Amino acid sequence: MKYGYFDDPNREYVITRPDTPLPWINYLGCQAYFGIISNTAGGYSFYRDARLRRLTRYRYNNAPFDFGGRYIYLRDDASGEFWSPSWQPTRRNLQNYVCRHGMGYTVISSEYGGIEASTRYLVPLDENLEIWQLTVTNRRQRAADLSVFSSIEFCLWDAQDDATNFQRNFSIGEVEIENGVIYHKTEYRERRDHYSFFACSEKITGFDTQRDSFLGPYRGWDNPLAVEQGRSGNSVAHGWAPIGSHQVKLSLQPAESRQVVFVLGYHENSRERKFDPPNSQVLNKKGAKFALARYLVPANADAAFEKLRSHWNELLGICQVETPDVHTNRMVNIWNAYQCMATFNMSRSASFYESGIGRGLGFRDSNQDLLGFVHMVPGRARERILDLAATQLPSGGAYHQYQPLTKRGNNDVGSGFNDDPHWLIVGVAAYLKETGDWSILDETVPYDNQAGTETPLHEHLQRSFRYTLDHLGPHGLPLIGRADWNDCLNLNCFSDSPGQSFQTTTNKDGKVAESVFIAALFVLAGRELAEIAEQRGLQAEASSYLSEVKKMETTISRHGWDGEWFLRAFDDFGRKIGSKENAEGRIFIETQGFCTLAGIGLDDGSARAALDSTRKMLATQHGIILQQPAYSKYYLELGEISSYPPGYKENAGIFCHNNPWVMIGETRVGNGDAAYDYYTRINPSAREQISEVHRCEPYVYAQMIAGRDAPTHGEA
Ligand code: BGC
Ligand code: NOJ
Repeated sequence: MKYGYFDDPNREYVITRPDTPLPWINYLGCQAYFGIISNTAGGYSFYRDARLRRLTRYRYNNAPFDFGGRYIYLRDDASGEFWSPSWQPTRRNLQNYVCRHGMGYTVISSEYGGIEASTRYLVPLDENLEIWQLTVTNRRQRAADLSVFSSIEFCLWDAQDDATNFQRNFSIGEVEIENGVIYHKTEYRERRDHYSFFACSEKITGFDTQRDSFLGPYRGWDNPLAVEQGRSGNSVAHGWAPIGSHQVKLSLQPAESRQVVFVLGYHENSRERKFDPPNSQVLNKKGAKFALARYLVPANADAAFEKLRSHWNELLGICQVETPDVHTNRMVNIWNAYQCMATFNMSRSASFYESGIGRGLGFRDSNQDLLGFVHMVPGRARERILDLAATQLPSGGAYHQYQPLTKRGNNDVGSGFNDDPHWLIVGVAAYLKETGDWSILDETVPYDNQAGTETPLHEHLQRSFRYTLDHLGPHGLPLIGRADWNDCLNLNCFSDSPGQSFQTTTNKDGKVAESVFIAALFVLAGRELAEIAEQRGLQAEASSYLSEVKKMETTISRHGWDGEWFLRAFDDFGRKIGSKENAEGRIFIETQGFCTLAGIGLDDGSARAALDSTRKMLATQHGIILQQPAYSKYYLELGEISSYPPGYKENAGIFCHNNPWVMIGETRVGNGDAAYDYYTRINPSAREQISEVHRCEPYVYAQMIAGRDAPTHGEA
């Protein structure tokens, strides 16, 4: 069953009913100002950092799902009837509901009682603001008197604090209202030099900035008192929950159309020019006024849209393929590239499943992401590489996360994941192959952002490689540390108390548990590094990498091979994981994929055998499972992986991320058809027909699809 269709020429996914199995979201913004927006206008906005600079509120995991958004209400002032043209939050029975998620914009349209409304949401390039361009058309035979209400709820900037620290937050909210523009300036009196603003192109008949006044006591966003009564309260927020809402009256003749433009934006002032006049407490609003003068004009909003479209045409035009398969073409030419860019900008930091609060950007993830977008934005890839390298530790190790606003590494999700350093090598290699910009290797970059520690980037890569050689275990395989790619294989954690985080709980300084996966990654990264050294004329360096790589390959075939597939790891007691000797977790996908991808076992047939075992034991119609048999209980010595019920997440779920490793492995043994077959199983476009099973968006790769052991097998 489908809930919409792909419009490939326009590069849009068109959703034709609002009650999708889950909110189907899109991303707005691609530089510094970002938002997520669902097919019913839910979502929120932030400047650079979803935790530290959040503009609007969103309620994750709410009932109903997806609450808090860019909501517009229309009210028939003759009958008093009101509705939201984006369906939420009023959820009336709309006609002709359509949501078009495009490249960096979303258009939601519908009709109710003969009134057609369409809103285009977008963030113009090079601006820290978003535009909601509403067109209302009267399809009735008679004139219509309408009220339009806008609404957003301001977040008091730090989303974590906003969601927890009510004893303070209920007392600090501040706004200013001038000429119908609502300025949110909580904490501006003290250390913040930024504010947000919310404005409307039309003359307003009223506004609200205090949530209680707009909604009325004990009411929700589905039934605001101001909308019901058709009259804004002109409330000025002092503390509690500042919001932004405008009321505009429209009288439309039959067939008449009118546009109303709303702009929500962010501005930073210099500390010296914070206030105007200087020794007052009044916000200096010049920045906002400048932006509003431009973007509240519909023609300029149209121009911003056209500019955004050509931007994406250019980006996507860089790599286009033509294959006999529509799903492949569509994903490669449009949605895969688009998702890579969203991921580059913010994913794993903010999405429908990442609240933007819990973690920054992953070190490993961000390096991996480079491979997907480097060809589109090489300049920004370069900057990202240098930022990431600057968080690297002097030992060559890495923080697992870094905060995009401060560009500092953080320990919120722990550190000591021993695969992390190698992804920097892989990312830089991808950058070099794409751009030929060898100068990046001579850029000097600090460690742990400490001034005075700078070395050329090339040395960062050397230290990444060295890190593994400094951390070898009893079999000569890399020690796993806190975990490797599989964050949940926590072999040194031994967590026995509820509430402890598997990612941050004090870990054993394990000297036994080893990872065959890191060994394979070491082989891949070592070869890349050797090639880099060779290209730079550093023959001796290149051969020393290659001899370490050779040694590791021998170690893998001696200690990492289980007879029919590659082992996964050794635990803290030196026992095998991912072996036929195990009752549960006998075979893992990661090593079958990564060893074969890295070319290990191509000569002696073990690569082929590992891939055959994968097909036999792990492949399902919905993708390749992470491991089998699933862990049926919690194992203290394995950690989080066994904390999940069978079939979910790392405990035998289908991780879309590692499936392509097997696909690449299949191509390395010359079996392209198998690679394509596997690809089609997880290709979201090919799964569109089973949207009621898959449930997630048909235009994005999910992190995980429930595995065979889950009652919900196939659900993403
Ligand atoms: C998830 C992993 C994730 C880790 C770190 C775990 O709960 O299952 O996929 O990488 O948390 O946030
Ligand atoms: C999600 C994390 O972002 C990624 O880094 C990790 O490899 C996977 N989970 C698997 O645990």
